[in-house]
Amino acid sequence: MLNLHKLPGTAACVVGAMLLAACGAEDSVPAGDLPPSGVGAPSAAERARVTGLGEQAASALMASLGAQLMAAMEAGGPVEAVAVCRNVALPLTDGAASGFEGVSLRRTTSKPRNPANAPDERDLAVLATMEAAATGDDEVPGVMIEWDDTVAHFYAPVFVQQVCLNCHGDPGGFSEPLAEKLRELYPDDQATGYALGDFRGVIRVDIDRQP
Ligand code: HEC
Repeated sequence: MLNLHKLPGTAACVVGAMLLAACGAEDSVPAGDLPPSGVGAPSAAERARVTGLGEQAASALMASLGAQLMAAMEAGGPVEAVAVCRNVALPLTDGAASGFEGVSLRRTTSKPRNPANAPDERDLAVLATMEAAATGDDEVPGVMIEWDDTVAHFYAPVFVQQVCLNCHGDPGGFSEPLAEKLRELYPDDQATGYALGDFRGVIRVDIDRQP
């Protein structure tokens, strides 16, 4: 689970907003598609708070990732940029000061590159719902929220953009140095073979519920 530490700059926000918009996280599908699993169903006000915080945190992550990826790709190409997607776990915001206290986030997927990003049971249920929609006729939910007694789990889908194909597309197209680097760091890599627009996974934002 990541902690949030430094807010990304304005330029990064723009990139992130673009990525996230392309990801469909801003569409208007109502949050809370899954029933509350614990006591204390969320009020409308709490739902709004969690949705707002979740969207902000997910945007900040995508902003940071997008900006850093582009800079690293330009500077050194995919091999250098591998460290960016690897270190995306780096802190993003300064908890209390930025209003992100009690918020943590991670990325997960049913085809992880890093086994540390493998889904837990709750994640699997959300991924299954989104994947069924992505491969069927339904629209992928823009947001899903699972409530338990003390934590709200906010999920935003992530889709494959052009830049992602450099490292998550057809491995036959990877340069040998990139393929070698990925083999070395991720012997169990499952995160290749994606096409533009594919559903890739989710950003999960855990938000402490307020009594
Ligand atoms: C330069 C290579 C590179 C690019 C470009 C890249 N990734 Fe990654 N991606 C990686 C690496 C390396 C990891 C493993 C990170 C880790 O160790 O946690 C990863 C992990 C992920 C994960 C976490 C789940 C997992 O598989 O471990 C997601 C989600 C993800 N990438 C999505 C994307 C998206 C979306 C894009 C485009 C916006 C993108 N990546 C672009 C290299 C890349």
